[in-house]
Amino acid sequence: MENNGNALLLKSVGEIASENPEKIGVFKKYGVDFCCGGSKTLKDVCEESGIDQLLIVDELNNPLTAAAGNDDNYSLSKKANDWNVDFLIDYIVNIHHTFLRVHIPEAEGYVEKIANVHGNKHPELLKIRELFTKMSQAMILHLDKEEEGLLTDIKAGKTENIKKEIEDALYYHEYVGHILKEMLFLSSDYSVPQDACASYKHAYELLKNISDDIMIHVHMENNILFKKI
Ligand SMILES: [Fe+2]
Ligand SMILES: [Fe+2]
Repeated sequence: MENNGNALLLKSVGEIASENPEKIGVFKKYGVDFCCGGSKTLKDVCEESGIDQLLIVDELNNPLTAAAGNDDNYSLSKKANDWNVDFLIDYIVNIHHTFLRVHIPEAEGYVEKIANVHGNKHPELLKIRELFTKMSQAMILHLDKEEEGLLTDIKAGKTENIKKEIEDALYYHEYVGHILKEMLFLSSDYSVPQDACASYKHAYELLKNISDDIMIHVHMENNILFKKI
């Protein structure tokens, strides 16, 4: 393996994602958790998940494959490295927290509906409903706690509780991330079955958008904001 392959393997996946968000497409393809599991090195992640190191390094170093499957959110997250902390916090709250407060209740209605209507034939929907309820409750509680505690304290320069508040945030991120992974698995990455009705499709689209948005949100907090303070 070339030298820059070795150097890449020894970096943490969170660091790779914040320095080069265009590589996140490759992480998504291989199922690499760069948000909650961002502190692990690429090498450790490959060993734990049985990912071929040569193959992934090759794709990460190839600008064409690395740029595939990304959206504007990720190119924006690269710029976020240079934002000041107050602006970054406002961005996270106004964009990502607002997104969840609007779309979680909307998705709840659809998830409830498709579990009731299609749960017999697609029993995974019953489990998805249960997991989504758990995830949503934890997430909404976390948004409130984060805004009233950690983010307010950072802005006010009140440092005494920050360490504990970050630990609490990391705990929630990991808890939510874990549930999202399970939902992704149960829904086969939110691919709808052939007999899916419009509500089914819409519910899966909403869940996928929520899942993607949480990934970038947690990435911005764990790998960019928390690193700045
Ligand atoms: Fe947040
Ligand atoms: Fe958070």
